[in-house]
Amino acid sequence: MNGKVEAGASDSGSRLSIALGVNIDHVATVRQARKARYPDPLLAALLAEEAGADSITLHLREDRRHIQDHDVERFSLALQTHMNLEVAAIDAMIDVAVRIKPRDVCLVPERREELTTEGGLDAHSNQAHLKDVVLRFKAAGVRTSLFIDPERRQIDAALALGAPVIELHTGRYAQSHGAEKVHELERIRQAVAHAASCNLIVNAGHGLDYHNVAPIAAIPQIVELNIGYAIVGRALFVGIKDAVREMKRLMLEARHT
Ligand code: PXP
Repeated sequence: MNGKVEAGASDSGSRLSIALGVNIDHVATVRQARKARYPDPLLAALLAEEAGADSITLHLREDRRHIQDHDVERFSLALQTHMNLEVAAIDAMIDVAVRIKPRDVCLVPERREELTTEGGLDAHSNQAHLKDVVLRFKAAGVRTSLFIDPERRQIDAALALGAPVIELHTGRYAQSHGAEKVHELERIRQAVAHAASCNLIVNAGHGLDYHNVAPIAAIPQIVELNIGYAIVGRALFVGIKDAVREMKRLMLEARHT
């Protein structure tokens, strides 16, 4: 077992608290650049937990470009907090998730040529297939989270599918500027308010960094933010523990002001 978990304890039911899920895929990206044994994403995850991460996110992609099958096994044995496993809604990945039984499985769209997850899952148009997937996870005791764009019809589809959790895609907010950014933030605020009024657990993430996280973290109904690239990038200079602590501090400050 690793050392004690610092300030992580997530009382995510409280509006004064907000949880940080740290996505460590890009530690594996560096390892896979050489197909070496290091840097080990599991070590990064355990240190992130010690520094206050409330959960760890990893994405097992079909092309295995970063996280590998053996990582998922090792994480499931060693994590001190919770695993949020991102997968595409295809049989092979669903089988892995049902076997591993993380606390959450986040269903994401996946295209081989994309650099990262570029848009939300179209829950609205794929209800028949996704309904079966959500039921399979429910039977396995796994919470399904749907990574969707901040749109009412996608939220209503998640509700109709019986998914208890949604993660709203913040990528457009993160990449926009000026009036467009203000508009995107408002779109997210309205989507969060609608989803929370439907009793969905609302998470958010993608493209969040040390400069743009505060307005999102300040939205009171958001339970957890999943953040990867910015934290792993900053960890190169300050170490993973300080990178996690700094992000968590910014999130909590935003929530308290
Ligand atoms: N949430 C989901 C569903 C994702 O696919 C990703 C990227 O892997 C993230 C959050 C984290 O995004 P970023 O690495 O830009 O912080």
